[in-house]
Amino acid sequence: MSFVPSSILVTGGAGFIGSNFIHSFVAANPACRITNLDCLTYAGNLKNLTSIENRPNYSFLKGDIADAQLVAKILAEQQVDAVVHFAAESHVDRSITGPEIFVRTNVLGTQILLEESRKHWQSGVVADFRFLQISTDEVYGSLGDTGFFTEETPLAANSPYSASKAGADLLVRAYHETFGMPTLNTRCSNNYGPYHFPEKLIPLLIHNIINKKTLPVYGDGLNIRDWLHVNDHAAAIEVVLKTAAPGSVYNIGGNNEWKNIDIVNLVCDLLDGRLGREAGENRRLISFVKDRPGHDRRYAIDATRLKNDLGWEPAYTFEQGISETIDWYLANQEWVAEVTSGSYREYYQTQYGGGAA
Ligand code: NAD
Ligand code: TYD
Repeated sequence: MSFVPSSILVTGGAGFIGSNFIHSFVAANPACRITNLDCLTYAGNLKNLTSIENRPNYSFLKGDIADAQLVAKILAEQQVDAVVHFAAESHVDRSITGPEIFVRTNVLGTQILLEESRKHWQSGVVADFRFLQISTDEVYGSLGDTGFFTEETPLAANSPYSASKAGADLLVRAYHETFGMPTLNTRCSNNYGPYHFPEKLIPLLIHNIINKKTLPVYGDGLNIRDWLHVNDHAAAIEVVLKTAAPGSVYNIGGNNEWKNIDIVNLVCDLLDGRLGREAGENRRLISFVKDRPGHDRRYAIDATRLKNDLGWEPAYTFEQGISETIDWYLANQEWVAEVTSGSYREYYQTQYGGGAA
């Protein structure tokens, strides 16, 4: 099966994964229009997209996925035949201190986007249609020492973030089951790479090490995450969008499990070399802190279905990916400084007028 989109609506394209996806998709698909709808929360940064913002097949619109009228207008005017839905509140720690916005954006926002997409698809103005929900392995809950999440693993989300993503995934399933809407759902492990907001573990470590700040390790540091380079995720999304059967669910993972403390030590050691510090100096910044409430112990993805059905496999080794990522942060200190100071939020005003959300 092959689906060739001619006009895609990307939501949340100014965030970490969405912007990396747009970078690769816009270049590889010059005949496809890409409309990026993002309301520019603290995590949305148009500076992630400066190098492609003048491409003829790319345009940005500031707006909320929960604005039904706006979504309907974009779908109709752009003759959208695929929605690739990244927009979300994405940080577990924030979902613990303020869950409401997670339900509002991730659940209600997704439902509104689904409903407008359904009307648009059923109106028959486009010949074919896909709605691709970008989700997370966190919807499956937590693993013990062995085993992997498959697409058949029951949803058992533990944090308000993952619960809101699971709610959205179930709505996507419901729109396929109830209306026959051609939906797709991917569930990916932890991503790393350029343009990652430094509240998440890997960019936070790099940023804090450069600035000789404490490296907070939650609990005993033995929680395990399965890390995937964001470019591998972007490639998998494109494969699923173009070749997966409507209604399908695919796990995406790097087969690359790391204990948090081992990642922390690795990043410390790589940066000792890069920053000309003595061996072991950065590890002295590590501080074990109170554990995150409900902290999932282990995530591990079985991505066999994606490999067998659609032929996708990660291209990056972790050694290459983490090295390149560290070098990217070192070479883009201005980006990091703007993000940490919040000044990137003024960029929207100078480029597009009006105020950032
Ligand atoms: P991010 O927080 O970096 O970006 C989210 C983007 O969504 C931001 O640009 C933000 O402005 C936008 N947004 C938020 N609310 C919006 C709204 N109401 N309307 C329009 N735009 C809105 O997140 P990310 O890390 O790039 O994650 C993208 C998607 O991938 C999310 O759905 C997340 O659940 C999923 N995911 C992330 C990871 C990961 O490791 N980061 C792993 C698996 C899945
Ligand atoms: P994070 O990047 O927040 O991703 P997620 O919670 O979605 O997996 O965290 C990755 C792991 O690192 C997770 O087990 C929590 C841990 N962690 C720390 O130990 N210290 C930190 O400062 C952060 C942000 C995360």
